Amino acid sequence: MKVCRTKKSLSALSAAWHRAGETVALVPTMGFLHEGHLSLVRLAKKKARRVVVSVFVNPTQFGPNEDFAQYPRDERRDFALLRAEGVDAVFAPTPEEMYGAEATVSLVESKLSKVMCGAFRPIHFAGVLTVVLKLFNASRADVAVFGRKDAQQLAVIRRMVRDLDVPVRIVGAPLVREKDGLALSSRNTYLSPAEHERALALHEALDEAEADYKAGRTDPRRSVAKIEKALAKACDRVDYVVAVDADTLEPVKKLGPNTLLALAAYVGKTRLIDNHVLR
Ligand code: PAJ
Repeated sequence: MKVCRTKKSLSALSAAWHRAGETVALVPTMGFLHEGHLSLVRLAKKKARRVVVSVFVNPTQFGPNEDFAQYPRDERRDFALLRAEGVDAVFAPTPEEMYGAEATVSLVESKLSKVMCGAFRPIHFAGVLTVVLKLFNASRADVAVFGRKDAQQLAVIRRMVRDLDVPVRIVGAPLVREKDGLALSSRNTYLSPAEHERALALHEALDEAEADYKAGRTDPRRSVAKIEKALAKACDRVDYVVAVDADTLEPVKKLGPNTLLALAAYVGKTRLIDNHVLR
């Protein structure tokens, strides 16, 4: 497994692969890898001959009062996990290498990124889109894999690729959960055992909403209200619960296939997100 610390070395590696007729898949991550990330890597291996994983805690997507400094990091463990998966290269730059001295351009999406998490994290998606486009450019990837855990992120990235004609194919990967149902997240390490237990309410509320939907109840207001009620009991603060179209993120009038039920809530000081796409 090659370790690239500079954009230039990654681009050169990818160019050599392309000259040899090989395709390249990119899996962007912020590290502290878990089974969710590794499932993306396995999917990427099916989509291209070569797989690059980026490990970069991107400062520009964290707000001033968010957890950039505390965000968990363990590069040695991450690299060992990626090596074991047979990843071809890991890209792990410093923030200075990634952004240079005086970057004055960033990428702003004006609709999908303003709702849901965007309403509570105003600079978040500009930071995500900017770093993701830079990662696409440095890696020259043909395909990039993103998890449905971050359903809004996936929708916003698909929109960027569509609107800016970015020459990369976006693949969405299923949400991976712990055995008890909690959506895997690097931030789960912040949870005490008691908080972890309370956090199970997130997926339980979504499961129940899906069961109601399957039983024929399609009023989004009722299902959102029911989820909100369950979260109010278990969580310390609820940022939002929505029923929206998974691609446009616009509220739906009736629950149906491709409806995204999504939520964000705090358990203790930890902000968690979860979602179900109705099928
Ligand atoms: P990070 O939170 O590390 O997630 C990296 C990728 O793993 C994302 O595509 C995310 O959706 C996916 N992922 C995380 N948990 C998952 C789970 N339980 N099941 C399936 N996929 C999961 O998302 C980011 O980093 C950053 O915003 C990034 C895109 C790297 C830009 O900095």
